Amino acid sequence: AKQWQGVLREYADRLNISDATPIVTLGEGGTPLIPAPALSARTGARVFVKFEGMNPTGSFKDRGMTMAISKALEHGAKAVICASTGNTSASAAAYATHAGITAAVLVPEGKIAMGKLSQAIAHNAQLLQVRGNFDDCLDIARDLAANYPVHLVNSVNPDRIEGQKTAAFEVVEVLGDAPDIHIVPVGNAGNYTAYSRGYREEADRGATNRLPRMFGFQAAGSAPIVLGHIVKDPDTIASAIRIGNPASWELALAAREETDGYFGAIDDAKILEAHRILSAEVGVFVEPASAISVAGLLERAEAGQIPAGATVVLTVTGHGLKDPSWALRTADGSDVQPTIVAADTTEVASVLGLTGA
Ligand code: F0G
Repeated sequence: AKQWQGVLREYADRLNISDATPIVTLGEGGTPLIPAPALSARTGARVFVKFEGMNPTGSFKDRGMTMAISKALEHGAKAVICASTGNTSASAAAYATHAGITAAVLVPEGKIAMGKLSQAIAHNAQLLQVRGNFDDCLDIARDLAANYPVHLVNSVNPDRIEGQKTAAFEVVEVLGDAPDIHIVPVGNAGNYTAYSRGYREEADRGATNRLPRMFGFQAAGSAPIVLGHIVKDPDTIASAIRIGNPASWELALAAREETDGYFGAIDDAKILEAHRILSAEVGVFVEPASAISVAGLLERAEAGQIPAGATVVLTVTGHGLKDPSWALRTADGSDVQPTIVAADTTEVASVLGLTGA
């Protein structure tokens, strides 16, 4: 069987690359679009989950990073830099080291998930924890890229958005058309922008009959786009989207306008509730930021804003193993304590409630 070639080779004719572009790939993209009957039953819509945790480093960032690192190499870069809430740093570190160049990553001190920190270290990044938040890290990364010989691979680099738009191509390929509604978590709003562009291009080439309405959700404590102003001290348990001044703010507003889209805010309790529903009813394990897509769907359905039978795609952006501790947290804030039993079949059967043979 033919192996999936990664998004640059699979979509070479629809990306800004040429024979001069050295392709750096870990086989990203080609992620599953999973029907979610449990969510369809709860909402009356036809719901699918685009599981981006299945990418090589466990998040959607790999789609943008294969492009950004390949173009950086084409331009002769020897070192790349990014600011990150965790996933971008993990991805930049993996793709840079695969390409034989250096990655420096700036992360907010104490505010990124352990799995992501481990990845960046494992992939040999120069990782600095900055005493500040993500927005401070991005300011510094931009300054450094403007004044020193390092290439910026945050989503303000247009190559990132280019690579990430391929996720929309995959959805269209599977569904045979665009969905009615597409829902994504929003931090910098780069991915919201990328999907909008991907669907626009599909419509322009006649592959689809409609543009999906793009719905984006921010955590209530970090919701600058919803509030209409910068949030100085953003806060949420969804550390991936703890961002107060989104880099792609203007592009995202334009995309909302174009697609009759929507931005909403979801509080942390609802994010964790959605996290449990997705894990326990659908069988898909994600990090908290990703669960906001599910929470957003349920909120919009409750508000009567999801038409019966509408096709809805939820992007879940990062794998649950990146930040697994939330799965053990119960609604009252304590941790689940798995039952301990003796190494004895009769006792195990009894505790499991198994009777007879
Ligand atoms: N979901 C996850 C798991 C993320 O890591 C991010 C962004 C988003 C959603 C939001 O995407 O920024 O394009 O709106 N993470 C960045 C990072 C900021 O550094 O890993 P966005």
